[in-house]
Amino acid sequence: MKRRILMAVGAIVLGSASTMTAQVTLQSNNVDEVLKAMTLEEKARLVVGGPAQRVPGAAGATREIDRLGIPASILTDGPAGVRINPKRDNDENTYYCTGFPVGTALACTWNTALVEEVGKCIGNEVLEYGCDVLLAPGMNIHRSPLCGRNFEYYSEDPLVTGKIAAAYVRGVQSQGVGTSIKHFAANSQETSRMSVDEVMSQRALREIYLKGFEIAVREAAPWTVMSSYNRINGPFTQENRELLTTILREEWGFDGIVMTDWTGMRNTAAQIQAGNDLMEPGEEAQIKDLIDKVQSGALAEANLDVCVKRILQYLVKTPAFRGYKYSNKPNLKAHAEVTRRSATEGMVLLKNEGAALPIGYAKTISVFGITSYDFVAGGSGSGDVNKAYTIDLMRGLTETGVKVNSKLADLYQNYKAYQASLTAAAPPRGGWFWGKAVLPEMAVSRPIINVQAQESDLAIITLGRQAGEGTDRHEDGDFTLTDVERQLITDVCNAFHLANKPVVVVLNMGNVIETASWKSMPDAILLAWQPGQEGGYSVADVLTGEAYPSGKLTMTWPDNLIDLPSSANFPNIRPAAPRSRENNRIEFRDYTKHTEGIHVGYRYFTTSNKPVSYPFGFGLSYTTFSYSKPVVKATKDGLTASITITNTGTRAGKEVVELYVSAPAGGLEKPARELKAFAKTRELQPKESQTLTMSLSLYDLASYNESTQAWEAASGKYTISFGASVEDIRATTSYSLSKPYTVKCHDVMRPNMPL
Ligand code: BGC
Repeated sequence: MKRRILMAVGAIVLGSASTMTAQVTLQSNNVDEVLKAMTLEEKARLVVGGPAQRVPGAAGATREIDRLGIPASILTDGPAGVRINPKRDNDENTYYCTGFPVGTALACTWNTALVEEVGKCIGNEVLEYGCDVLLAPGMNIHRSPLCGRNFEYYSEDPLVTGKIAAAYVRGVQSQGVGTSIKHFAANSQETSRMSVDEVMSQRALREIYLKGFEIAVREAAPWTVMSSYNRINGPFTQENRELLTTILREEWGFDGIVMTDWTGMRNTAAQIQAGNDLMEPGEEAQIKDLIDKVQSGALAEANLDVCVKRILQYLVKTPAFRGYKYSNKPNLKAHAEVTRRSATEGMVLLKNEGAALPIGYAKTISVFGITSYDFVAGGSGSGDVNKAYTIDLMRGLTETGVKVNSKLADLYQNYKAYQASLTAAAPPRGGWFWGKAVLPEMAVSRPIINVQAQESDLAIITLGRQAGEGTDRHEDGDFTLTDVERQLITDVCNAFHLANKPVVVVLNMGNVIETASWKSMPDAILLAWQPGQEGGYSVADVLTGEAYPSGKLTMTWPDNLIDLPSSANFPNIRPAAPRSRENNRIEFRDYTKHTEGIHVGYRYFTTSNKPVSYPFGFGLSYTTFSYSKPVVKATKDGLTASITITNTGTRAGKEVVELYVSAPAGGLEKPARELKAFAKTRELQPKESQTLTMSLSLYDLASYNESTQAWEAASGKYTISFGASVEDIRATTSYSLSKPYTVKCHDVMRPNMPL
């Protein structure tokens, strides 16, 4: 019934326009003319998304308006590769996409050139599968390790987030398709993501939660931005003009379109007024509502025109508009090689005592841990990819020539088959979109482990975790080890160490877990992340020394959750002692107060000298590096800093150098040090050196002063530190700023309740 009314309204409006205007079709230079020719209904249809008919399984689309030659454009997830249906009805072809390493793994490479290369491959699959925009990268801040989507995001630090995202956007967009940087902003938890109000100071908002987006917008000009589901300081982000227009467009110069996350019907007129151009996934009811609002005077048509014009300007850039003849045959083989290589560079070597790695010395290996046999290539939900296959660790090891103990392998394979039969009978709650859970760890008896310790030269234990959209992680048995995992590590380490044989733990997850209580047991720990479809090969390459790890952590690994200031106010944390909880759930409206302000991650731990299990920026290598000749030079609007890195070990490697700045006293209160730039060497052979130069502007040095509503850098002496991690400063020098520096901003997005 509703549909019929809508069609009638459309016919009346359409009829009147076609008699008024001459026929015009969209060209790259006639956007204003097309806008003028559009009826109200056509305008409303253009700002409301529609079904992605051309590409089954794509997340959304903009609607076609045939009369005006306006094509539909296709929007597809997501961060780790294109997400479309791999099979189609009555079609023998397949449409699998490459599953690349998850966002966290990419960020831990600290290699912007490599991330750009991955972006190019993903962008090519977007193009060749007939899509126009990739709904990625995900760039929310890791405020707590429990956020279910951290694997899609990059870091607890906004600079790393912004630089890695900018590289990714450049790579994807180099293929002539767009990106949608998401979720703008402060989508730091999945619990009540559709309703939660993230309440924070203007300084925390600007310095931590918006900064990464600002860098990506200024440096890489993404075609689109996706507003988040949540509220910030009161309004939903998608209806917040201060966020979407004052900050994003007027202050940062964004000139693309903003689309909602997949919200559905909500506050249509307010979104248009705020500058949220496109509503996804789109419902007919939204179109009718917009028409009603304009006709009743509740929404000025001129406001709608602004959004429509921006969508038209976006459309003329798309492959759909160009009529690109996509092949549906991207070079998946070449992309598989890129994912295999890029995954190794994001792996972080957390521990390597007695040169337990690489494992060339071991003739036979016992491979423990169900995840070794059921590898986790990526996260779940919209961040997952429909890939043709996943190489598990067993296959990776055996195909790279490693001999594994087959008796143990058979035991695990039988267990896996049994578990798979149970799961097949009962798919995961909510269906397969939410992903296949990691299988429960298999308990292995001590006698079996003792036999393995006699028969093999080395034990590998893989621990796995899965997480994804819609829910946050839990503390017990997710952040912490399960009892079975703890027992397995203890028993394997005891038995193998008694026989003088090493144990290596591989972490196959997209997120942080507790390590402080067990990390002393194994000889080596390799954080492999969720390394994509070639994961088993990538891990085997690093274990065998065919490749080497050169990743560093882009987030702190705390001793426990209670140490994190955000834990006072994050869902799913079990208080160790009675504490006040600020996360009050009110029906359809709850809030999370960011009482920690800017003290997120290392900004808190380093400033308060609180010990952590592994600090931000940490990562070992198969070789060692020295830092020498720190030099800082003043430039017209900032400084350049250089440092010489020498490989002092016996194997090849790459080193990530982190540049931290400590501000002079007298200005705003600041963390002990803050990351302001980073660089990575090329592959250095033993004794080889490279001088790295990083530049930063005065704007980069500045912090946000709420009392003046300006970015400010105080005059005085800044300490410039070159670190191998935030806690391992290898060289320092200084930079003097003679005059204070200020950039005035708008006083917007004030907190709506006391913090
Ligand atoms: C997610 C987005 C995703 C969209 C489309 C939403 O639920 O939050 O990240 O791009 O769905 O699949």
